[in-house]
Amino acid sequence: QKTENPDTWCLNFDSNGVQSSAKIDLKGATVISWVVNGQEILFLSSKADRTSKKAIRGGIPLVFPQFGKVESPNPVATLPQHGFARISQWKLDEENSSEASEFISVSFSLDSSDLKEQHSDLAESWAYPFTLTYTVCLSAFSLSTTLKVCTTSEKELPITPLLHSYFATEDITQTFISGVKKGPFVDKTKSGAPTQEFSGEKIIISQEVDEIHFDAFGSDKVSLNFGSSVPYKLEFNSIELPDVVVWNPWIEKCIATQDLKDDDYLKFICVELGNIKKPFLLSSNSPLTFGQRISLVKVE
Ligand code: BG6
Repeated sequence: QKTENPDTWCLNFDSNGVQSSAKIDLKGATVISWVVNGQEILFLSSKADRTSKKAIRGGIPLVFPQFGKVESPNPVATLPQHGFARISQWKLDEENSSEASEFISVSFSLDSSDLKEQHSDLAESWAYPFTLTYTVCLSAFSLSTTLKVCTTSEKELPITPLLHSYFATEDITQTFISGVKKGPFVDKTKSGAPTQEFSGEKIIISQEVDEIHFDAFGSDKVSLNFGSSVPYKLEFNSIELPDVVVWNPWIEKCIATQDLKDDDYLKFICVELGNIKKPFLLSSNSPLTFGQRISLVKVE
């Protein structure tokens, strides 16, 4: 439903004693809040500025068409870091609730004509016809976000999308990620970012972390754990997004980031599901759908 702010939409779920809600900002179709029984799950910077040219700092910005900044001669080389979807104004498509009221969802869209209108320079850099439909679905203890991408382009388009989710932490020193599969990963904090082998241990956050784990989903559930004082953890289900980025800027980079407060590095961790290593090839014959489901699970 509409909120007092015309640029924000709210989903409210209330069933069997569980109340949850999600708020979505039309800028970037960024989910900026997910509350379950009074508990906010996402981090949103108090310095986030939805009116600036930059993405909203926090929530779940949508990275499309490319992760990071790509070197020339790739067609996305002139696009800003993490693409244009997160800095564009999306339109509301439709709101649905299931007959059994097990979930409520809302969809937003962005297409090539919107991009041309809003960012003509970027539309020249990525001059392909496209339609994006992003669906946010809320149920009692889970939040799903899925993106459908279509093009009528004759050319195959490589894309490396990602869901850049920021989660609020109670105590960063107790926070850890478990269940990421052994295998190749890149540590972007090391010079040259060499590909290394990940041992499969817990990922703890005691310094700057900026890692890309390739093909990260195996037999264990990828989970975000908050420490013994928090009675729940988050479990991630991937819908066709095989890679996981873990990011926390730590002290120096946090201070250098304008839209974060100096001590915000203590208050969030990003766990980002994406497809980075082997780009999807988008073509007119095969639309793509991918995303994530995040579930809140009680810890005994
Ligand atoms: C992460 C990247 O996904 O996003 C980091 O791995 C980057 O390298 C971070 O610093 C934040 O990016 P931005 O553009 O939102 O400041």
